[in-house]
Amino acid sequence: MAVHEITHPLVQHKLSLLREKEISTKRFRELAAEVGALLTYEATANFETEKVIKECWSGPVEVDQIKGKKVTVVPILRAGIGMLDGVLEMMPNAKISVVGLYRDEETFEPVYYFEKLVKDIDQRVALVLDPMLATGGSFIATVDLLKKAGCTNIMGLFLVAAPEGIAKAQAAHPDVDLYVASVDSHLNDDAYIIPGLGDAGDKIFGTK
Ligand code: PRP
Ligand code: URA
Repeated sequence: MAVHEITHPLVQHKLSLLREKEISTKRFRELAAEVGALLTYEATANFETEKVIKECWSGPVEVDQIKGKKVTVVPILRAGIGMLDGVLEMMPNAKISVVGLYRDEETFEPVYYFEKLVKDIDQRVALVLDPMLATGGSFIATVDLLKKAGCTNIMGLFLVAAPEGIAKAQAAHPDVDLYVASVDSHLNDDAYIIPGLGDAGDKIFGTK
């Protein structure tokens, strides 16, 4: 598994704004979507292209198009929804598979409650979206579920990740690449990422 920490100034600037303590729900949503779009740009950088001939205003022209890659975007409920609009702006034709998990407040283990995957997921690249990779439990459970459904090409896009979660995800799924705006310092005793963003789901849904 490769971990790609995206150091592009636009990503880092937007992340700095996301970290502001008194950020509004509206602003948090906007920035989460924008960083989601920029992470998508990076995560798709190695998609194969092919030459095709297009009829252009000046006649036929050889152009590059993405070759045969079908994508499904997989937001992990709830907070993954906050990145979805930005990702879809980059890939408006992507199909959406939804996985519902929440983290038990005492054990920090993921609790499953919903899934609706696209039927041909075995033929698609899956981009899993979640603002936070903390202990890694929710992401690992999602990848387990996608692999069980036949998906073999999976990437994870996160705003912020903890080293503990990255290590656990790497051990569980060494074939899955991660794209993160920041690898933060550590988890606190409540398994929250430090410095992190706080509770991303609450900030996106306004449920604080
Ligand atoms: C948060 C976050 C991740 C998970 C990360 O979700 O959005 O899904 O916790 O923690 P982990 O890496 O330790 O599993 P939460 O359980 O708060 O649910 P929500 O998205 O519905 O708010
Ligand atoms: N979930 C969050 O929303 N934030 C964290 O820091 C950890 C889990």
